[in-house]
Amino acid sequence: MADLGPRVAGLPGASRCFLVADSGLPPEVVDRVEAALRGAGCEPSTRVVHAGEDHKTWQVAGELLGDMAALGLERRHPVVALGGGVVGDIAGFVASAYRRGVPIVQCPTTLLGMVDASVGGKAGVNLPGPAGAGALKNMAGAFHQPVFVLADVEVLESLPERHLRSGLAECIKHAMLCDSAPRRDPGLLEATRAALLAWKGRRPAGEALAALIARSVALKAGVVEEDEREEKPAGGRAILNLGHTFGHAVETAPGSTLLHGEAVGLGLIAAATSAASLGLVGAECERLTRELVEHAGLPLAINGLSPATVRARMALDKKVVGGGLRLVLPCGPGRVTLVEKPPEEAVLAGIAAMLAPR
Ligand code: GLY
Repeated sequence: MADLGPRVAGLPGASRCFLVADSGLPPEVVDRVEAALRGAGCEPSTRVVHAGEDHKTWQVAGELLGDMAALGLERRHPVVALGGGVVGDIAGFVASAYRRGVPIVQCPTTLLGMVDASVGGKAGVNLPGPAGAGALKNMAGAFHQPVFVLADVEVLESLPERHLRSGLAECIKHAMLCDSAPRRDPGLLEATRAALLAWKGRRPAGEALAALIARSVALKAGVVEEDEREEKPAGGRAILNLGHTFGHAVETAPGSTLLHGEAVGLGLIAAATSAASLGLVGAECERLTRELVEHAGLPLAINGLSPATVRARMALDKKVVGGGLRLVLPCGPGRVTLVEKPPEEAVLAGIAAMLAPR
């Protein structure tokens, strides 16, 4: 984190910046970053944003944009996102819109932010869904690449363990597609399994965690380089949606208290079961996926939701084309494939796999 001040101040014209800080951060971390920016010659104006998907709204983005205008920030004054995925998404979004785009610096402070949200330039907010249906995830947004990403793994030491484990779901996702990515990392599935097993009763930390983060970031960066705007019909950036169509449906269901990674973990289980019901993989893939999610200390099922509710929410996914779902499903160890308009039985088998018996 010591590099952040000089690196932001070194951007052309960055005599000021708009620091969007996560409410979950210890205040001394924010104070230190502000002092470092000021000391390097970049005057920060700070706004604290509540972490949590229900704050990733159009209204919060509008307030931030209004603040930027009131502060008289200019085109070369960067936005600095200091926090988890929600803060990174919303800060990236306001940076993409203010004066038709100002630079964004991503400084992720959660595991999920480091391995996923800060890499690749996706930014956005949720929109309200139809009455009683919960929010529509990332329905308004932009691609706005960061000028740089600074991820300091030391900051993870103060992250609550539930949030740390939530980030492991995105590492599992990357492991499950490690052989389908343009920059293949064939050993990642086995390395992830071994790391998760080692962290079963203790907090993920140290060099093993730093190595897993570095491999995850490299894998994701390779996918984004090939298909930045998710335009390839198959095999491009869309593969990163593995587990997300199922996962978003349970994450945004009314009353859900799941963290994003917890929902993605469930979505990965659903995707493996759905793939098995289509004959794309055998039962061992389902078993391995459950095992990885369990070793990560993530929930294996969710209570209180009906299959019909989850199915209805999946239809609201922004990747739906012509009313049909597009699912990324495993098709072998470390490999995934895109299935357009999957048979309904396969979708329902996936949903059943993540719901606790009622
Ligand atoms: N989180 C999926 C992507 O960045 O494309």
